[in-house]
Amino acid sequence: MSDKAVLEINGEKHEFPIVTGTENEVAIDIKTLRGVTKGVTTIDPGYKNTGSCESAITFLDGEKGILRYRGYSIEELAEKADFLEVAYLLIFGNLPTVEQLEKFHIDIKANSVVDDDIKKILDAFPKTAHPMGVLSSLTSALTAFNPSSVNIDSEEDMYNAIVKIMGKFPVLVAWTMRKKQGLPLDYGDDKLGYVENILKMMFKKPHGDYEQNPILVNALDKLLILHADHEQNCSTSTVRIVGSSHAGLFASLSAGISALWGPLHGGANQAVLEMLEKIKEDGGDTKKYMAKAKDKQDPFRLMGFGHRVYKNFDPRAKIIKVAADEVLGDLGIEDPILDIAKGLEKEALEDKYFVDRKLYPNVDFYSGIIYRGMGIPVEMFTVMFALGRLPGWIAQWREMRLRKEPIGRPRQLYIGENHRPFKSIENR
Ligand code: ACO
Repeated sequence: MSDKAVLEINGEKHEFPIVTGTENEVAIDIKTLRGVTKGVTTIDPGYKNTGSCESAITFLDGEKGILRYRGYSIEELAEKADFLEVAYLLIFGNLPTVEQLEKFHIDIKANSVVDDDIKKILDAFPKTAHPMGVLSSLTSALTAFNPSSVNIDSEEDMYNAIVKIMGKFPVLVAWTMRKKQGLPLDYGDDKLGYVENILKMMFKKPHGDYEQNPILVNALDKLLILHADHEQNCSTSTVRIVGSSHAGLFASLSAGISALWGPLHGGANQAVLEMLEKIKEDGGDTKKYMAKAKDKQDPFRLMGFGHRVYKNFDPRAKIIKVAADEVLGDLGIEDPILDIAKGLEKEALEDKYFVDRKLYPNVDFYSGIIYRGMGIPVEMFTVMFALGRLPGWIAQWREMRLRKEPIGRPRQLYIGENHRPFKSIENR
C-alpha cells in the first residue's frame, strides 16, 4: 500500500501520510489538512470515521468480534484474572506482579475513606433521584474535598490520584444505592477483596452480617472486567476531551459518568430490563415487539441489540451469556424475563432485518439479567457499568495527559444565516 493519500480539491492535489497501527489498521493523518487547503475541514457526525487519538490501551475489531486490553484477549482475562489485576493492567500497561498487586490493593484501601461531609450532599438528594445523577455529582464533589491538582509529571502524584478514586468510587456507588433504599451508609471491610467489599458495602443489612456468595463474587468480577474499557466510546471520549482542557481527574470522570448515563450508551442495560418488563406486562408477545423494532415509523428499538463498532457478535456478550446462565442456574432463579430475553434473541438472530444490519445482542442485553438475579435494583445497573468502566476511564485520561495531547476542539461547517444587519425590536 502507498504511504500517502492524495486529496484533490479544485484541481489542486494535497498529500497526506498514511499511518499504520500495530494491528495493521490504516489511518490517513490529516493534521495538516486545514493548513495546506487554507481552511477546508472534514464533516463526520458521530465521528464514525474519525480517530481522535493514538492509543495503546484497548484493541477491538468489530468485524471479527475481537476485544483485547493491552494485548490480552478479553476471554482470557475474564477467565484467568480478577478485576483489580485488570484495572492495574489497563492503567499501567502490564499485568502486576504479586507485590505490585498487593501494594495497589493496600493503597486503594488506605484511600477508601470518603470525607464524612459528602454524606450531607448525599442527604440533600431526593430518594427519587436517579443514581447516575447522584454518582456524577458526588464524583464531581470529590474535587472540592481533594482540591490539589495532580502534577502529571510526578509519577507519585498520578499514582496517588488513581488509588484515591479507585478507593472512594465503590464507596460512593454503595452509598448511592443505600441512600435510595433508606439504609445506613457503610464503609465495608478492608479485610475483604475489592469486589467482595463492594458487595458487602452494597448489601449488608444493619442488623446482620453479610455472607459472601462466591458465585456472585465471581459473576460481578467478570462483569466488571468485561466493562472495564472499550476504547474511544462516548463516555471515554468525554473523559479524554474534558481532561484535555486540563480539568482534573475527578471532574473528567464525573463528565464521563453523565455521558454513560444515556440509553444509547451505558443506560442501555436499564433500558433492556425496562423493555423486557414492558413486553412481559403486555402479554409476552415478542413477535409484536420485533415488528415494532423493524417499523421505521415506530421509534421503538430493540434495546441491547446493535453496536456502533461490533458488526459481529459482541465478544463480551458471549462470555456474559454463559455467566448469566450460571448465576441464574446456581441461584435457582426462574425468571419469565429471561425467557422473553431468550425468545427475542432467537428471533432476532434469525430475522432478515437484524441479520442484514448485523444487529447482534450486545453486552448490555445480558448484564441487566445478571444484575437483576443478584438483587441489584434496575436503576443501579448503569452505576454498576460505571464501576467497571472506572479503570478504563482512568487509563485513557492518564494516557491522554502523559502524551500531552492538545485540547479537544472539533471544527464545524457553519450552515446558518449570513451576515445580516441588526433590527431594532420595534421593527421585527
Ligand atoms: N433495533 C432496531 N433497529 C436498529 C437497532 C435496534 N436496536 N439498532 C440499529 N438499528 C437499525 C437502524 O434503524 C438502522 O437501520 P437503517 O439502516 O434501515 O436506517 C441500522 O440498524 C443502523 O443503525 P444505526 O443507528 O445507524 O447504528 P449506530 O452505529 O449509529 O448505532 C446503537 C448503534 C446506538 C448501539 C444502536 O444499535 C442502538 O440504538 N441500539 C439500541 C441501544 C443499545 O443497546 N445501546 C447499547 C450499546 S452498547 C454500549 O454502549 C455498552
